[in-house]
Amino acid sequence: MTQFKIDILEGLKANQKRLSSKYFYDAHGDELFQQIMHMDEYYLTQKEHEIFENHKDKILKTISDGEPFRIIELGAGDGLKTKVLLKHFLESGADFTYTPVDISGNVLAILEKSLKEELPNLNIEAYEGDYFDALAEISESPEKDVVFFLGSNVGNFSHEGAVSFLTNLRNALKPSDLLFMGVDLKKDPSLILSAYNDAQGITREFNLNLLDRINRELNGNFDRNQFLHYPYYNPHTGECRSYLISRVRQEVTMAGEAISFRPWEAIFMEISKKYDDMQLDLLARESGFELVKSFYDQESWFVDVVWGSLG
Ligand SMILES: C[S@@+](CC[C@H](N)C(=O)[O-])C[C@H]1O[C@@H](n2cnc3c(N)ncnc32)[C@H](O)[C@@H]1O
Repeated sequence: MTQFKIDILEGLKANQKRLSSKYFYDAHGDELFQQIMHMDEYYLTQKEHEIFENHKDKILKTISDGEPFRIIELGAGDGLKTKVLLKHFLESGADFTYTPVDISGNVLAILEKSLKEELPNLNIEAYEGDYFDALAEISESPEKDVVFFLGSNVGNFSHEGAVSFLTNLRNALKPSDLLFMGVDLKKDPSLILSAYNDAQGITREFNLNLLDRINRELNGNFDRNQFLHYPYYNPHTGECRSYLISRVRQEVTMAGEAISFRPWEAIFMEISKKYDDMQLDLLARESGFELVKSFYDQESWFVDVVWGSLG
């Protein structure tokens, strides 16, 4: 049985139904996410892009004193923003290699192709898989590793999940290695909610695409019209959570198994957690990191932090 099938059935048989957002990214999901990154409402991409454009030289000087290093990027996607840094690092004569990691082989192939065209001198070694496995499997390097975790991917974990993930990451690093992480910050809740509930309905489509993917890959019969897309933001926890809610009582089959839905029963799809500086400090300490430097956009909507191992 594939991991996809195991996880989908386990999530839909749970008391509180859930699907993992890592499964959003099949080929159509990758396309939809690229559209999301270009939406006016999805400020995250614009802000992180602004940070990279304005601070690319300081970022390079913070992560390297001129020694060779390896960038491992977890959940690289199409590398839209990362390319700003990679280009600048190459032009500055930095000695580095680039290992993008992504669960979507499709997006990695797109990234590799575009990098070969746009940055032919870049030394790339891509890894397809879950970032939980990547760090264990990527060969140890005598060089300094700088792990990139951009786009506020860390927000896809609850606080406890993030502490556990980052602690494992820290344990896999050498003392001089660094983490370079993009984090979305608390702000006007209506701005946050719009990023996950845009006027054109692209984020809605992005969520519903996972039902279509289950239909395609597990021979399912979800009727997407019977599900309502419902994101909401809790300003206290900083969690924006997206749900798909069954409008009716219904039974859906997939992989030969039947799953029943009560009217208005929800499937939890994705968490996109927002931080403030205090919560981010706590996250660093609880996972064994300390702050080296922070880079903000002009409105302080987003931050990219450089963290090193504590002590
Ligand atoms: C929200 S996108 C962000 C892409 C990029 N980091 C950016 O800032 O634009 C998340 C990316 O992480 C990948 N991803 C999500 N969960 C993953 C996991 N558990 N392991 C590896 N890749 C994952 C997805 O395929 C997708 O390309």
